Amino acid sequence: MTEIVVIVAIAQNRAIGKDNDIPWHIKEDFLHFKEKTTGFPCIMGDKTYDSLPDNVRPLPGRENIVCTLDKEYKASGATIFHDFNEAIAYVKGKEVEKAFVIGGATIYKLGMEVADVFELTRVYHDYDADTFYPDVDFSKWEEISREDHEGMDVKNDIKVRFSFITYRRKKNVHSI
Ligand SMILES: NC(=O)c1ccc[n+]([C@@H]2O[C@H](COP(=O)([O-])OP(=O)(O)OC[C@H]3O[C@@H](n4cnc5c(N)ncnc54)[C@H](OP(=O)(O)O)[C@@H]3O)[C@@H](O)[C@H]2O)c1
Repeated sequence: MTEIVVIVAIAQNRAIGKDNDIPWHIKEDFLHFKEKTTGFPCIMGDKTYDSLPDNVRPLPGRENIVCTLDKEYKASGATIFHDFNEAIAYVKGKEVEKAFVIGGATIYKLGMEVADVFELTRVYHDYDADTFYPDVDFSKWEEISREDHEGMDVKNDIKVRFSFITYRRKKNVHSI
């Protein structure tokens, strides 16, 4: 059965985006994202797809699945769905080991309803943002691993602490 995995980096103040971009650039987190997701389908909103830098749009080595309500929307190299639930049904039908939901905020909100695993990079800093992660009821998620790190946020030229935390949904709990 295909596991649905939400993967995200969230700041201390729940910031995830500003001006359709990520407010920080932490190399270790980009490598973590690449390592986790390569080889698996990645479901994202059209705004997140459009925000990817040219050299990684579409994300290489992954089927890029883009959700939009816009019937005219075109994204070369991506599979398009006009209904998030149909995108989930599509990846489940492929019988791949797992598929990732990679943002942004609108699509994360839908993804958290159906995810089995939540891969969170917690960045211990407050960032100026216009996009925030929806509230998470952590009582419904069990932490199964955690790695603590420190590295440079080269976009803001600051040293930050961050953790890679994996949660699995507690059995029989199916909402955010
Ligand atoms: N920190 C992180 O890890 C991370 C990761 C990813 C993204 N981000 C950031 O998140 C921000 C973008 O988030 P966002 O919420 O604005 O946009 P988004 O989630 O990327 O895309 C939202 C779009 O998805 C479409 N959509 C909404 N509901 C749908 C449904 N039920 N079925 C199919 N399509 C549906 C709509 O497209 P239309 O309106 O065009 O129809 C909507 O505008 C950016 O700043 C980005 O950098 C951060």
